[in-house]
Amino acid sequence: MKNLVVLTGAGISAESGISTFRDAGGLWEQYAIEDVATPKGWMKNKKLVTEFYNQRRKQLLHVKPNYGHIGLAELEKLFYVSIITQNVDNLHERAGSSYIVHLHGELTKVRSEKDEDLIYDLTPDRYEVKIGDLCEKGSQLRPHIVWFGEPVPLMEEAIDITKQADILVVIGTSLNVYPAAGLLYYVQTNTPIFLIDPNDVSIKRPNVHIIKKKASEGVKDLIKLLKEQYT
Ligand code: OAD
Repeated sequence: MKNLVVLTGAGISAESGISTFRDAGGLWEQYAIEDVATPKGWMKNKKLVTEFYNQRRKQLLHVKPNYGHIGLAELEKLFYVSIITQNVDNLHERAGSSYIVHLHGELTKVRSEKDEDLIYDLTPDRYEVKIGDLCEKGSQLRPHIVWFGEPVPLMEEAIDITKQADILVVIGTSLNVYPAAGLLYYVQTNTPIFLIDPNDVSIKRPNVHIIKKKASEGVKDLIKLLKEQYT
Protein backbone atom coordinates (compact mmCIF):
# COMPACT_ATOMS: atom_id res chain seq x y z
CA MET A 1 0.00 0.00 0.00
CA LYS A 2 1.12 3.54 -0.69
CA ASN A 3 1.83 6.15 1.98
CA LEU A 4 -0.83 8.83 2.00
CA VAL A 5 0.14 11.81 4.13
CA VAL A 6 -2.51 14.40 4.97
CA LEU A 7 -1.84 17.87 6.37
CA THR A 8 -4.99 19.36 7.85
CA GLY A 9 -5.90 22.76 9.27
CA ALA A 10 -8.90 24.50 10.79
CA GLY A 11 -10.90 24.28 7.54
CA ILE A 12 -11.49 20.53 7.89
CA SER A 13 -13.36 21.14 11.14
CA ALA A 14 -15.32 24.18 9.88
CA GLU A 15 -18.33 22.12 8.75
CA SER A 16 -18.41 20.54 12.20
CA GLY A 17 -19.03 24.02 13.62
CA ILE A 18 -15.55 24.98 14.81
CA SER A 19 -14.57 28.34 13.39
CA THR A 20 -11.32 28.78 11.52
CA PHE A 21 -8.76 31.39 12.53
CA ARG A 22 -8.27 33.67 9.55
CA ASP A 23 -11.55 33.53 7.57
CA ALA A 24 -14.09 36.36 8.01
CA GLY A 25 -15.61 35.87 11.47
CA GLY A 26 -12.66 33.64 12.41
CA LEU A 27 -11.30 33.26 15.92
CA TRP A 28 -8.50 35.80 15.45
CA GLU A 29 -11.10 38.48 14.69
CA GLN A 30 -12.64 37.88 18.10
CA TYR A 31 -9.48 37.42 20.19
CA ALA A 32 -6.00 38.87 20.00
CA ILE A 33 -3.48 36.15 19.23
CA GLU A 34 -0.99 37.71 21.64
CA ASP A 35 -3.52 37.54 24.52
CA VAL A 36 -4.50 33.88 24.21
CA ALA A 37 -1.88 32.10 22.10
CA THR A 38 1.52 33.30 23.27
CA PRO A 39 3.67 32.66 26.36
CA LYS A 40 3.52 36.43 27.02
CA GLY A 41 -0.30 36.34 27.07
CA TRP A 42 -0.13 33.46 29.55
CA MET A 43 2.21 35.34 31.88
CA LYS A 44 -0.01 38.44 31.64
CA ASN A 45 -3.35 36.79 32.38
CA LYS A 46 -3.45 33.07 33.12
CA LYS A 47 -7.14 33.18 34.03
CA LEU A 48 -8.15 34.65 30.66
CA VAL A 49 -6.06 32.09 28.76
CA THR A 50 -7.37 29.21 30.88
CA GLU A 51 -10.95 30.31 30.26
CA PHE A 52 -10.37 30.71 26.51
CA TYR A 53 -9.25 27.08 26.23
CA ASN A 54 -12.01 25.88 28.58
CA GLN A 55 -14.48 27.40 26.11
CA ARG A 56 -12.80 25.62 23.19
CA ARG A 57 -13.02 22.34 25.14
CA LYS A 58 -16.67 22.90 25.95
CA GLN A 59 -17.37 23.47 22.25
CA LEU A 60 -15.69 20.15 21.48
CA LEU A 61 -18.36 18.35 23.50
CA HIS A 62 -21.05 19.61 21.14
CA VAL A 63 -19.48 19.00 17.74
CA LYS A 64 -19.03 15.87 15.65
CA PRO A 65 -16.61 14.83 12.90
CA ASN A 66 -17.84 15.60 9.37
CA TYR A 67 -17.26 13.57 6.21
CA GLY A 68 -13.90 15.29 5.74
CA HIS A 69 -12.59 13.53 8.86
CA ILE A 70 -14.59 10.34 8.27
CA GLY A 71 -13.49 9.93 4.63
CA LEU A 72 -9.84 10.17 5.69
CA ALA A 73 -10.40 7.40 8.22
CA GLU A 74 -12.08 5.27 5.52
CA LEU A 75 -9.02 5.72 3.28
CA GLU A 76 -7.08 3.48 5.69
CA LYS A 77 -8.60 0.53 3.82
CA LEU A 78 -6.60 1.57 0.74
CA PHE A 79 -3.50 3.42 2.01
CA TYR A 80 -1.18 3.80 4.96
CA VAL A 81 -2.66 7.11 6.10
CA SER A 82 -0.75 9.50 8.35
CA ILE A 83 -2.50 12.64 9.44
CA ILE A 84 -0.47 15.66 10.43
CA THR A 85 -2.90 18.17 11.85
CA GLN A 86 -2.50 21.74 13.02
CA ASN A 87 -5.83 21.35 14.78
CA VAL A 88 -6.08 20.98 18.52
CA ASP A 89 -9.54 19.38 18.38
CA ASN A 90 -10.00 15.60 18.53
CA LEU A 91 -12.24 15.13 15.48
CA HIS A 92 -9.74 13.01 13.52
CA GLU A 93 -9.52 10.61 16.48
CA ARG A 94 -13.28 10.49 16.84
CA ALA A 95 -13.69 9.80 13.11
CA GLY A 96 -11.47 6.72 13.52
CA SER A 97 -8.10 7.72 12.06
CA SER A 98 -5.32 5.66 13.61
CA TYR A 99 -2.19 7.71 13.12
CA ILE A 100 -2.39 11.41 13.98
CA VAL A 101 0.35 13.90 14.77
CA HIS A 102 -0.97 17.00 16.55
CA LEU A 103 1.62 19.58 15.57
CA HIS A 104 0.04 22.36 17.63
CA GLY A 105 -0.99 20.31 20.65
CA GLU A 106 -4.28 18.97 21.94
CA LEU A 107 -7.21 20.61 23.71
CA THR A 108 -7.93 17.42 25.64
CA LYS A 109 -4.58 17.59 27.45
CA VAL A 110 -2.93 19.94 29.92
CA ARG A 111 0.61 20.09 31.15
CA SER A 112 2.72 21.58 33.90
CA GLU A 113 3.80 25.13 33.13
CA LYS A 114 7.24 24.28 34.54
CA ASP A 115 7.86 20.73 33.29
CA GLU A 116 6.70 20.07 29.72
CA ASP A 117 6.94 16.30 30.25
CA LEU A 118 4.19 16.29 32.86
CA ILE A 119 1.17 15.95 30.58
CA TYR A 120 -2.32 14.99 31.75
CA ASP A 121 -5.47 13.88 29.90
CA LEU A 122 -8.71 15.71 30.53
CA THR A 123 -11.99 13.81 30.25
CA PRO A 124 -15.32 15.05 28.85
CA ASP A 125 -16.80 15.19 32.38
CA ARG A 126 -13.74 17.03 33.76
CA TYR A 127 -12.62 19.27 30.93
CA GLU A 128 -12.50 22.55 32.82
CA VAL A 129 -9.20 23.74 34.20
CA LYS A 130 -8.94 26.35 36.95
CA ILE A 131 -6.22 28.57 38.25
CA GLY A 132 -4.91 26.57 41.21
CA ASP A 133 -5.09 23.19 39.40
CA LEU A 134 -1.54 21.95 39.82
CA CYS A 135 0.74 19.25 38.43
CA GLU A 136 2.19 16.64 40.81
CA LYS A 137 5.16 18.90 41.45
CA GLY A 138 2.99 21.85 42.44
CA SER A 139 3.04 24.03 39.31
CA GLN A 140 0.01 25.47 37.54
CA LEU A 141 -1.44 23.42 34.69
CA ARG A 142 -1.46 25.15 31.31
CA PRO A 143 -3.02 24.17 27.96
CA HIS A 144 -1.07 21.52 26.02
CA ILE A 145 -0.97 23.86 23.05
CA VAL A 146 1.96 25.10 20.99
CA TRP A 147 1.72 28.86 21.23
CA PHE A 148 3.27 31.36 18.85
CA GLY A 149 6.93 31.75 19.67
CA GLU A 150 7.22 28.24 21.13
CA PRO A 151 9.07 25.32 19.54
CA VAL A 152 7.02 22.67 17.73
CA PRO A 153 8.22 19.43 19.37
CA LEU A 154 6.61 17.07 16.82
CA MET A 155 8.04 18.87 13.78
CA GLU A 156 10.88 16.36 13.26
CA GLU A 157 8.43 13.47 13.31
CA ALA A 158 6.15 15.32 10.86
CA ILE A 159 9.09 15.98 8.52
CA ASP A 160 10.09 12.29 8.55
CA ILE A 161 6.53 11.26 7.71
CA THR A 162 6.22 13.87 4.94
CA LYS A 163 9.47 12.77 3.30
CA GLN A 164 8.00 9.30 2.90
CA ALA A 165 4.76 10.45 1.29
CA ASP A 166 3.78 8.80 -2.00
CA ILE A 167 0.83 11.20 -2.12
CA LEU A 168 0.31 14.38 -0.09
CA VAL A 169 -3.12 15.81 0.67
CA VAL A 170 -3.56 19.30 2.14
CA ILE A 171 -6.98 20.22 3.54
CA GLY A 172 -8.33 23.45 5.04
CA THR A 173 -5.19 25.35 5.90
CA SER A 174 -4.25 28.84 4.77
CA LEU A 175 -0.58 27.75 4.96
CA ASN A 176 0.19 30.96 6.83
CA VAL A 177 1.79 29.44 9.88
CA TYR A 178 5.34 28.09 9.94
CA PRO A 179 6.96 25.69 10.47
CA ALA A 180 3.82 23.65 9.63
CA ALA A 181 3.40 25.19 6.17
CA GLY A 182 7.04 24.39 5.40
CA LEU A 183 6.24 20.66 5.44
CA LEU A 184 5.19 20.95 1.80
CA TYR A 185 8.83 21.40 0.86
CA TYR A 186 9.82 18.01 2.25
CA VAL A 187 7.84 15.93 -0.27
CA GLN A 188 9.71 14.60 -3.29
CA THR A 189 9.31 16.87 -6.33
CA ASN A 190 7.33 14.26 -8.27
CA THR A 191 4.97 13.46 -5.38
CA PRO A 192 1.41 14.41 -6.30
CA ILE A 193 -0.24 16.96 -4.00
CA PHE A 194 -4.02 17.28 -3.68
CA LEU A 195 -5.24 20.52 -2.13
CA ILE A 196 -8.81 20.79 -0.84
CA ASP A 197 -10.05 24.27 0.09
CA PRO A 198 -13.09 26.30 -1.01
CA ASN A 199 -10.89 29.40 -1.25
CA ASP A 200 -7.67 30.16 -3.12
CA VAL A 201 -4.55 29.08 -1.27
CA SER A 202 -1.12 30.00 -2.55
CA ILE A 203 0.96 26.86 -2.94
CA LYS A 204 4.21 27.05 -4.84
CA ARG A 205 4.86 23.40 -5.60
CA PRO A 206 4.74 21.38 -8.81
CA ASN A 207 2.24 18.60 -9.34
CA VAL A 208 -0.64 20.18 -7.40
CA HIS A 209 -4.21 19.08 -8.09
CA ILE A 210 -6.66 21.61 -6.66
CA ILE A 211 -10.11 20.53 -5.47
CA LYS A 212 -11.83 23.84 -4.80
CA LYS A 213 -14.49 22.59 -2.42
CA LYS A 214 -15.33 22.36 1.24
CA ALA A 215 -13.71 19.46 3.08
CA SER A 216 -16.69 17.08 3.13
CA GLU A 217 -17.36 17.35 -0.62
CA GLY A 218 -13.67 17.62 -1.45
CA VAL A 219 -12.77 14.43 0.39
CA LYS A 220 -15.51 12.59 -1.54
CA ASP A 221 -13.91 13.76 -4.81
CA LEU A 222 -10.46 12.91 -3.50
CA ILE A 223 -11.44 9.33 -2.67
CA LYS A 224 -12.87 8.87 -6.16
CA LEU A 225 -9.70 10.26 -7.79
CA LEU A 226 -7.37 8.22 -5.61
CA LYS A 227 -9.31 5.03 -6.34
CA GLU A 228 -9.12 5.71 -10.08
CA GLN A 229 -5.45 6.65 -10.16
CA TYR A 230 -3.65 4.85 -7.34
CA THR A 231 -5.36 1.56 -6.48
P1 OAD B 1 -6.72 29.32 8.92
O1 OAD B 1 -7.91 29.93 9.57
O2 OAD B 1 -5.52 30.18 8.74
O3 OAD B 1 -7.12 28.76 7.49
C1 OAD B 1 -8.28 28.01 7.32
C2 OAD B 1 -8.37 27.53 5.90
O4 OAD B 1 -9.52 26.69 5.79
C3 OAD B 1 -8.53 28.64 4.86
O5 OAD B 1 -7.67 28.41 3.75
C4 OAD B 1 -10.00 28.52 4.44
O6 OAD B 1 -10.22 28.89 3.08
C5 OAD B 1 -10.23 27.04 4.62
N1 OAD B 1 -11.64 26.63 4.81
C6 OAD B 1 -12.67 27.32 5.32
N2 OAD B 1 -13.78 26.58 5.36
C7 OAD B 1 -13.45 25.35 4.86
C8 OAD B 1 -14.15 24.12 4.65
N3 OAD B 1 -15.44 23.98 4.96
N4 OAD B 1 -13.47 23.07 4.12
C9 OAD B 1 -12.15 23.19 3.80
N5 OAD B 1 -11.44 24.31 3.99
C10 OAD B 1 -12.08 25.38 4.52
O7 OAD B 1 -6.36 28.00 9.77
P2 OAD B 1 -5.00 27.15 9.80
O8 OAD B 1 -4.30 27.21 8.50
O9 OAD B 1 -5.35 25.82 10.36
O10 OAD B 1 -2.33 27.77 15.59
O11 OAD B 1 -4.18 27.95 10.88
C11 OAD B 1 -2.92 27.48 11.26
C12 OAD B 1 -2.66 27.78 12.73
O12 OAD B 1 -2.87 29.16 12.98
C13 OAD B 1 -3.59 27.10 13.68
O13 OAD B 1 -3.18 25.78 14.00
C14 OAD B 1 -3.56 27.97 14.89
C15 OAD B 1 -3.64 29.30 14.19
O14 OAD B 1 -3.20 30.39 14.86
C16 OAD B 1 -2.27 27.97 16.92
O15 OAD B 1 -3.21 28.36 17.58
C17 OAD B 1 -0.93 27.70 17.50
